[in-house]
Amino acid sequence: MSGSRVDWTSSPSSALHGEVVVPGDKSISHRAIMLAAIAEGSSRITGFLEGGDTLATARAFSLMGVDIESPRDNERVVHGVGLYGLHRPDAPIDCGNAGTGMRLLMGLLAGQRFDSTLIGDESLSLRPMRRVIEPLSRMNARIDSNNGLPPLRVRGSQTLSGIRYEVPIASAQVKSAILLAGLYARGETEVIEPHPTRDYTESMLSAFGFPIEFSEGRAKIVGGHRLRAVDVDVPADFSSAAFFIVAATIVSGSELTIKNVGLNPRRTGLLPVLRLMGANIVETNSRVVGGERVGDLFVRSASLRGIEVPIEHVPDMIDEFPILFVAAAVAQGATRVTGAAELRVKESDRIAVMAAGLQKLGITIEETPDGAVIRGGKLTDGNVTSAGDHRCAMSFAVAGLVCDDAVAIVDCANVGTSFPDFLALANSVGFAMADANRT
Ligand code: S3P
Repeated sequence: MSGSRVDWTSSPSSALHGEVVVPGDKSISHRAIMLAAIAEGSSRITGFLEGGDTLATARAFSLMGVDIESPRDNERVVHGVGLYGLHRPDAPIDCGNAGTGMRLLMGLLAGQRFDSTLIGDESLSLRPMRRVIEPLSRMNARIDSNNGLPPLRVRGSQTLSGIRYEVPIASAQVKSAILLAGLYARGETEVIEPHPTRDYTESMLSAFGFPIEFSEGRAKIVGGHRLRAVDVDVPADFSSAAFFIVAATIVSGSELTIKNVGLNPRRTGLLPVLRLMGANIVETNSRVVGGERVGDLFVRSASLRGIEVPIEHVPDMIDEFPILFVAAAVAQGATRVTGAAELRVKESDRIAVMAAGLQKLGITIEETPDGAVIRGGKLTDGNVTSAGDHRCAMSFAVAGLVCDDAVAIVDCANVGTSFPDFLALANSVGFAMADANRT
């Protein structure tokens, strides 16, 4: 994300206590704006994430003529314009740091009657887009790229046709882009996944009244129907909760409750993995809100042991590896991660960034092409960089709690993409963090 530089320090703390409510789910917030914008009628979104990524998506639709009101923080009222009511944007659409925003928009824009251009920040400009261009081209979309990278020019006025597509990688973004193009396609669009991924696009299309058949790893729609406005209640983001789950686990004497967390099983792979390592996490107050499983998580500190991370959990915790690496760094013995090559093409190369940082903090860690072997030990103090990756920044902040002395973390501005108030919320339950540039 552009803007002024932010650096943090995170110092050893005593036990963490209390309750936290982390911000709204990023994946659901993106989709809620998109589907509400192309629905007929007005939808109210509550629990919306006020983060850089989702604000960029909301701005994209404002640029295409959708009236979006913000009656209060974390709330939007989107006055939908229907499937064919978007206007040609008179400037490039800037997706900021958001891979989800850009990839889903590619599918949605492929079906429009106008051309559009998608751009992003430095990190997004290096992220692979062929995985979406390829299936959309088979549907007859026309997308020009810079050798598979943004900026992207999406040509409008193409007659899209449905396809049956077996996605080569487990990716909810690829699946969702195809389904969104499928709304505009002639005939049937079917997506088959190598491993089931988060199904928010499917369940939200159904909530917006668009007929869809879906089950684990499969989704099918037929173009030519309409979406009707519906209210969306966004739960707290499990990926943001994950930093507090690991923090309370590794800081001895901690007892922390994280409230109202989205517990879709395609997101919570970190829970069985941490439990295998010895963590003590109890789910309470389980309920279903707007079709999504939600609950509170009560975490007590525990000693962890290293494990082989079962490969079947990898897609269900794909965003949680930076913080898992920190848990592994304080566990007894080695933790081996395999089958996670996708980590190399996230907001940063997360294997390389976490390995470099943890090595600086005294941990032995060997990178492999699709994972790492992390040997648990004693964390020392030191200087690390997040490489502009929000999840690496917050993971190093958690590491600081159990280091010998303060950890200095540079390049943390991107935390604003998913968790703008992290520092204040973390300090409210016992973290000892400071903004290094404020005296
Ligand atoms: C997301 C899907 C995942 C995830 C990303 C959000 C989504 O990406 O890493 O943070 O909202 O669909 P991939 O589809 O690339 O695995």
